[in-house]
Amino acid sequence: MTGLTRRQLLASGAAGAAGAGIAALAGCSGASGTGVSEPEAFDTPLPIPPLADSRMVDGIRTFTLTAQEGSWQFQSGQQASTWGFDGPYGGPTLRAAVGERVAVEVTNELPEATSTHWHGMHLPAEMDGGPHQMIEPGETWRAEWVVDQAPGTLWYHPHPHGATERHVYRGLAGMFQLVPAPGSQVAAVEEQLPHTYGVDDVPVVIADKSFDEDGELVIDDGGNEVGLLGDVVTVNGVAGARLEVTTQLVRLRILNASTARTYSLGLPEQEMLLIASDGGLLRAPLEVTQVRLSPGERAEVLVALQPGQEVRLHSYEPDLGQVAAPFAVGANDAFDVLALVAAEELTASAEVPEQLASFGLDAGAVSVRRHFELQGRQINGARMDMARIDETVQVGSTELWTVRNLDLFPHNFHVHDVQFEVHAIDGAPPPPELAGRKDTVYTEPHRDYELLLTFTDYTDTQWPYMYHCHLLRHEDEGLMGQFVVVAPGQEADPSLISGAGREHE
Ligand code: C2O
Ligand code: CU
Repeated sequence: MTGLTRRQLLASGAAGAAGAGIAALAGCSGASGTGVSEPEAFDTPLPIPPLADSRMVDGIRTFTLTAQEGSWQFQSGQQASTWGFDGPYGGPTLRAAVGERVAVEVTNELPEATSTHWHGMHLPAEMDGGPHQMIEPGETWRAEWVVDQAPGTLWYHPHPHGATERHVYRGLAGMFQLVPAPGSQVAAVEEQLPHTYGVDDVPVVIADKSFDEDGELVIDDGGNEVGLLGDVVTVNGVAGARLEVTTQLVRLRILNASTARTYSLGLPEQEMLLIASDGGLLRAPLEVTQVRLSPGERAEVLVALQPGQEVRLHSYEPDLGQVAAPFAVGANDAFDVLALVAAEELTASAEVPEQLASFGLDAGAVSVRRHFELQGRQINGARMDMARIDETVQVGSTELWTVRNLDLFPHNFHVHDVQFEVHAIDGAPPPPELAGRKDTVYTEPHRDYELLLTFTDYTDTQWPYMYHCHLLRHEDEGLMGQFVVVAPGQEADPSLISGAGREHE
């Protein structure tokens, strides 16, 4: 039923010809570059964020989340003041099915205002949880929408303008997993993939941290161009984590929740099967040696293990493109991230389907082209202005956005509301790992990324969506813009966000 068998996955170390990143395999031990310090041992059981409870209220799957202060142990013998949703750090995993109406009621018990954005979600702008949907201390904000997109691994995090880096870094981030509608075609595919939460379907939220001598989080950037590059790399909040695997195949849903660091994740001498990018399953599984993830991006990979095998998920020196000072932006860092330890007896896993999903935006339907030049903390020469609507998009249209990083240091580009497709990079088709549904793409310096986007519904002349660099300090400092989606004949109305008040529709 498939050419991509477990045997081939296991044997794939020998077939190392695949992938340009293979050369990096040579230098896989020890830390370097800006100095990530590897834990002495990988012996802390990987914490699995709990699945969030929900209740059905009038047919609406309703979740509650509370942003709160707490204290968390990232590594043994050390306690740090942190923020989290429903706990001291991170957040529970929300899970909903495609087609469901969902609501999330977020209560802010922090000492300052925050917001909660559903990264990767297609939903009305007013529900987006961006910088205009702030939640004051003591208040509750309710977002409600119908899940209407492909199943996939999304996430949620604060988005207060100018403070997103700090809020996320302190720990406010969780996964929002969308599962297929029962009976759908993709449900049958999902059934064959590892899908038991926390057993063979495991959230892997990677974030780098930096601590002072008291063990408290610090976010001093040391003057580099990208923001914080922490020297302690955590998964689900702990350094030196180990995951006990009991099945032949394990699915890792990897989220880069770091504020600035880009990783290039792989296994020494063994390939992984990439099955999904930001917005859901790829068309077909793809054998990869490494997956590059910039802040905000997700990847789902399948790893095949033999009984008793122990491997470390490693971050190789990421290829960041033609950056001026690779050392200063983390491109020389290599380190272990997570130990995977297989049991002596492993439960058999199903064969991986040969085809996973079918989708595709129509480049022939493009009616509008836009250009976005990223430089310093500006897009097209302007910093983010909360009161300005930068772009007005007509609902139902397909657009081609060309994004170019004019700097010699890293940026990426994230668009709210849609999953886009990378149509071309410098005029050539994207590599297969970037050919899936994306909401965030790393932009190597001085290259043109052509993105195809379709804005299917949800018009609002007043509430905007964001697009921005997901290196959170860049975003905070202005590398962000706002767009509205309007019906034909409508115009953007900035009166609400410029403080003139919103008329009730
Ligand atoms: Cu993950 Cu505008 O954000
Ligand atoms: Cu940037």
